[in-house]
Amino acid sequence: MDRVFLSPPNMSGREQEYINEVFKSNYIAPLGEFVNKFENSIKSYTSTKDALALSSGTVALHLALRTLGVTQGDIVLASSFTFMASVSPILYEKATPVFIDCDESWNLSPELLKKAIANLPKKPKVLVLTHLYGQASKMNEICEICQNEGIALVEDAAEALGGFYNGKALGTFGILGAYSFNGNKIITTSGGGMLVGDENLVEKARFYSTQAREPLLHYEHKDYGYNYRLSNILGAVGVAQMEVLEERVKAKRAVFEIYKNELVNELEFMPELENSRGNRWLTTGVFKEKGAHIRVIEALAKQNIESRPLWKPMHMQPVFKGALSFTDGTSQELFERGICLPSGSCLKPQIQERVIKIIKENL
Ligand SMILES: Cc1ncc(COP(=O)(O)O)c(C=O)c1O
Repeated sequence: MDRVFLSPPNMSGREQEYINEVFKSNYIAPLGEFVNKFENSIKSYTSTKDALALSSGTVALHLALRTLGVTQGDIVLASSFTFMASVSPILYEKATPVFIDCDESWNLSPELLKKAIANLPKKPKVLVLTHLYGQASKMNEICEICQNEGIALVEDAAEALGGFYNGKALGTFGILGAYSFNGNKIITTSGGGMLVGDENLVEKARFYSTQAREPLLHYEHKDYGYNYRLSNILGAVGVAQMEVLEERVKAKRAVFEIYKNELVNELEFMPELENSRGNRWLTTGVFKEKGAHIRVIEALAKQNIESRPLWKPMHMQPVFKGALSFTDGTSQELFERGICLPSGSCLKPQIQERVIKIIKENL
């Protein structure tokens, strides 16, 4: 039987046509018309000020920290309940991460954020906030705290393109935000990312992303940069994928609704905040019984169906042993009971029924 993936790519059909245009123009080298179109498309969908297409979401987050001047000795606050890529850029810049637990929203706890700020020996420079699994964080409270405390907010919206809070796109609340177009994301360019937000900072990031080259005839460098930009071929894929983003969000949310209705007694699902629309990138939930998630993941794997535990919190990761964290056990509890279910926007109803049946049989 064909493998069922957690969140496989779902092409619209226009990608090949646009790729053919790229080849016809011979602009297959980095940059070109489709990269510009992709950036404009993200700009108009999210109503952000500026957008920079990059080779991954991780490098978008790295450039966010670099352009904000994060350096050794700086404290960077971060969601603990997230994927490693949210926080590894803090290490690239040799700054000090401090982790904050989530609350009942599964996203960053504003209460613990306040506690961290009050108890740290030094003012944190930046908060890297993740909107987990495409669901919105408590933006009113978090933005207010960051504003009052003078902390720059960077949103890791890698999983959250297509999500909104109070009608505003996730990723556009902070001074900078990052999206990912990795193969498993809601839309994909096979690999890619986008940095959005403040025009001056995005312009600075644009400079760093192409080796910090001064605008002279010869190659002149007063600073160092990276080779982080997206190829025009992948830009073409991105433009075609943006045309179907809303359809993909609807499909993901429909997958979630079926799980929610069918597994109401078995799973407690990740909530959705009032006045928000998440993209339900992955349907996630927790079982009552500790360890049940492993049994279910193994039973699904036997049927060639991919599922996985929730992210292991950063404050529990060996690489961050000794890092300061403000936690109350919430994300640990979720990690020890939770599961990510197959959530492809092209998941067939009969496959989803099979997944549901296997879950019920293994509890
Ligand atoms: C929360 C989160 N942050 C960052 C990333 C990094 O994105 P990318 O894989 O495009 O580097 C991902 C996805 O992979 C993610 O899920």
